[in-house]
Amino acid sequence: MSSPSEEPLGLGTPMLARFPFSSDKKSFNHGGWGAYPNIVRDAMRQFQTQFESHPDIFVRFSQPAIHTEAQENVAKVCGVSSNDCVFVRNTTTGAATVLHNLNYAEGDVIVYFSTTYGAFQKMITHLTEITPFTDAIQQIRSQGLNPRIAIFEMVVSIPAFRFPFERLTQVCKSENILSLIDGAHGLGAIPIDLEQLRPDFFVGECHKWLYVPRSCAVLYVNPAHQHLMHTTIPTSWGYINTDGSQVLLPWSISTESTTNSKFQTLFRYVSTHDSTPILCIPTASDSANNVEGEARIYQYLETLANEGADIVATTLATEVLQEPNLKPGEVSQYRRCALATVRLPLAIDGYDCNESSPYAALSPAEVRDTINYFGERLANDYGTWVPIFPYEGWLWVRLSAQIYLERKDFELLAAWLKALCDEVGTRQPRTRSGPSLKF
Ligand SMILES: Cc1ncc(COP(=O)(O)O)c(C=O)c1O
Repeated sequence: MSSPSEEPLGLGTPMLARFPFSSDKKSFNHGGWGAYPNIVRDAMRQFQTQFESHPDIFVRFSQPAIHTEAQENVAKVCGVSSNDCVFVRNTTTGAATVLHNLNYAEGDVIVYFSTTYGAFQKMITHLTEITPFTDAIQQIRSQGLNPRIAIFEMVVSIPAFRFPFERLTQVCKSENILSLIDGAHGLGAIPIDLEQLRPDFFVGECHKWLYVPRSCAVLYVNPAHQHLMHTTIPTSWGYINTDGSQVLLPWSISTESTTNSKFQTLFRYVSTHDSTPILCIPTASDSANNVEGEARIYQYLETLANEGADIVATTLATEVLQEPNLKPGEVSQYRRCALATVRLPLAIDGYDCNESSPYAALSPAEVRDTINYFGERLANDYGTWVPIFPYEGWLWVRLSAQIYLERKDFELLAAWLKALCDEVGTRQPRTRSGPSLKF
């Protein structure tokens, strides 16, 4: 679909005109839900209108070509062939699809990190309950166990930082462990070259950083493993039997099966859902290209995440999360992404912290109330919201850079956070292990 052309606009505040945000609100949490420009919203509405004008004709005859174009678009962003990419509802569904399609033997282990997205950790717990394998991750082989697949992010969600996914993918290859990369905060946020990286599996969210409506994600399966994929989640019309046969009913919606591989057909129609977000990908991609192109966006996001985080950390007299003991001038690898994590000057009692704070520490019982208080005050008084969370004995904040933000926005946010830290940090009565604060 060709999109109406847009006049080029500068990045930063001018871009706000392109997004449907309320003018009295500021978004510093693009990593939470994503956001998409008005032009993409209009495209989605147009597709919905076309869909409703005659669902059968739309789904069977109009949609397939746009779907294919969307697949080619997103495959290009991943740096890989569109034959190896399919759409899934979201990153969780993509990861679940991979994990549920592997056959596990006694002693097989799924390796994950303490930073792995919480919902994925629950998924792994569930799998360990329904299949005969142990979830030990320490000294797996010395215990006679078999690390079957490792899951890791490109950019960790909380605390946000770039994970060494390139190195881990290589380690997995040399150790003969399957790799499943969670690119929820990678796709559209940092350059990706899967052709070069060659993980076994990759899942990336289109609706976060690719400016696509919710919900839509891409699942890449290395051609060597596509035969392992028998079912979607939920199992639907394209199911592939264990003998490799795929029986498509004559009236099946997967009409392109003569040209598509079984793998492509498997994912082409997965139960009834709103497919219009997928169809918006070409418009979103055109729109990103109009905005100076992907490379410029990646550069802008990383630079702004770093500058914004420095502004907030300087205002709060704290620090940005990065590798410990970085030498002066050495580039932080943790910070090579569109998200950043900054410490608030609010310690939590009971941890051994080296850094000092002008404020008394919060008791562990105060942490939840304090976080909620920050959230409510930011939303009610300043028209924004950012994730605040405890980590290593302190409260921290996660910042998202985006093309509609610029340095001065982070100066504002820094001032708001400082005001709230001053208020919360000096509230009386308090002692280091005193009673809970009531807000
Ligand atoms: C790192 C990471 N992985 C996976 C997900 C899951 O995304 P979804 O709920 O859309 O499946 C998220 C969500 O924010 C995330 O941050």
